[in-house]
Amino acid sequence: MSQADFEAALNANQPYFGPHLGCRLSWPHIYYFQQKLLQKLASTRASSAPLSILEIGVWAGASTVSWGQGLQRYFAGRGQIVSVDVWAENGEPVANLAGASGAIKHVFLHNIRASGVAALVEPLHADSDTAFAQLAARRFDVIYIDGDHRYEQVRRDLKHAQDCLAPGGVICGDDLEVQRGEGADAAVARAVVDGDAWAAHPVSGLGFHPGVTQAVFETFGPVSAWGGFWAMSETQGRWMPVSLDGIEAEVPRALIQYDENGKRLFDL
Ligand SMILES: C[S@@+](CC[C@H](N)C(=O)[O-])C[C@H]1O[C@@H](n2cnc3c(N)ncnc32)[C@H](O)[C@@H]1O
Repeated sequence: MSQADFEAALNANQPYFGPHLGCRLSWPHIYYFQQKLLQKLASTRASSAPLSILEIGVWAGASTVSWGQGLQRYFAGRGQIVSVDVWAENGEPVANLAGASGAIKHVFLHNIRASGVAALVEPLHADSDTAFAQLAARRFDVIYIDGDHRYEQVRRDLKHAQDCLAPGGVICGDDLEVQRGEGADAAVARAVVDGDAWAAHPVSGLGFHPGVTQAVFETFGPVSAWGGFWAMSETQGRWMPVSLDGIEAEVPRALIQYDENGKRLFDL
């Protein structure tokens, strides 16, 4: 069924973010908090200057469409997004298949076109180390880290992101389900040594990303986070938490999960 939906969407020039080829890799609430962040930046920035966004790890483009539609909604379309991915192996069996066949980059390009954000997007087919080297002379207002979630790579991505951040910019990311000091520190230490991208929380049993937990903690200490999405803002050389309280935002419809009767499957 999911393959039929996928083919129907591609034929009808509609974006596809369903389960086929693992096209939706993050939960819808991540996109909700991305929208809130952009709305907040639009209201707090001094002028109507365009917003430049760099995202590491985009797969089928769900986060790209979220950022793009946020730019259209809150910045009148002023801005750009550099979207970096290897579009190949990423540790998920289904995703590996799609990446290896080359299908997923095609789906990414389709999704940004069908969602009306392609003009804002600069796809960059590279691993993040290579991409940061190529982008060294550029500065970004928002840098979103959602690539390889193992400790060493997240740590490097966060270091490079700081070098590329515009003054007053925000570094944010996905998959910080657990922070240091939240009952899983021994599991985090083990996973970091073993190079694991996943571990189970010893109390809840729920899976989380220990490399993200450790690298974010080493870089910033405790951060502002909402169900896995996290963000920190640079202010005159210091890292400050971000408040998204009291900001309402809409999630792009294509990124919300519905059943066949149109009922929302996921409550924000
Ligand atoms: C969790 S997914 C990203 C999901 C996407 N942000 C979204 O909202 O749908 C992680 C992505 O990181 C990419 N990736 C893995 N290692 C990478 C690396 N070293 N450099 C760049 N991208 C990488 C994978 O191909 C995959 O697309």
